[in-house]
Amino acid sequence: MDADAKKQQAALAALKFVEDGMSLGVGTGSTVNFFIDALADRAADLSAVVSSSEASTERLAKTGIRVSRLATEGDLDLYVDGADEATEFLHLIKGGGGALTREKIVAGASRLFVCIIDDSKLVGTLGQFPLPIEVIPMARSYVARQLIKAGGRPVWREGFITDNGNEILDVHNLEIPNPVEVENRLNQIPGIVTVGIFAQRPADVLLVSSDDGVREMR
Ligand code: 5RP
Repeated sequence: MDADAKKQQAALAALKFVEDGMSLGVGTGSTVNFFIDALADRAADLSAVVSSSEASTERLAKTGIRVSRLATEGDLDLYVDGADEATEFLHLIKGGGGALTREKIVAGASRLFVCIIDDSKLVGTLGQFPLPIEVIPMARSYVARQLIKAGGRPVWREGFITDNGNEILDVHNLEIPNPVEVENRLNQIPGIVTVGIFAQRPADVLLVSSDDGVREMR
């Protein structure tokens, strides 16, 4: 099974969590795109669909799904999103697509977070994937210096502007043995908007797609 087939298999497995009348948050990325495409038939049964990025909003709209604003919705019943890395404790690295801040907001506002990945993303310890960090543009070099002091090697994602008008530093060589502690510590650096560690609010369900099918971890 190739990578796309695994992503699609994970996305289709997430459909069983979608119930009539639910409010649904939709993440961002190539795995979620398969979920959006499969959602077309179910959209009319949902009370609201909220998006985590302009890219997903556009894809949802093309699929004929009306997108509501989180600001006018209460908490959401369900959030479905991908990840760049995940552990057995359901801690995640996200933000490869640069949508981490809105994704973290929607995840925080959701009662159930179902994360869909293929098995190449399941790791023992987070940090092999460079950690995306969204920064206020004027703070970029200051934040980069603090990240070097913390043992990382930040690389500016040059030319990329987030949906919030900010920039991204991808931090290499960061060991993240304790994701909750590292997430809290990095969040204290002035100028950081969001770090791509999702540990304070981890996934509730992890669907891991492989050649053998989809394994559900909680
Ligand atoms: C976007 C994300 C994505 O969920 C993550 O990058 C995984 O993407 P893909 O499904 O394309 O591998 O966090 O900001």
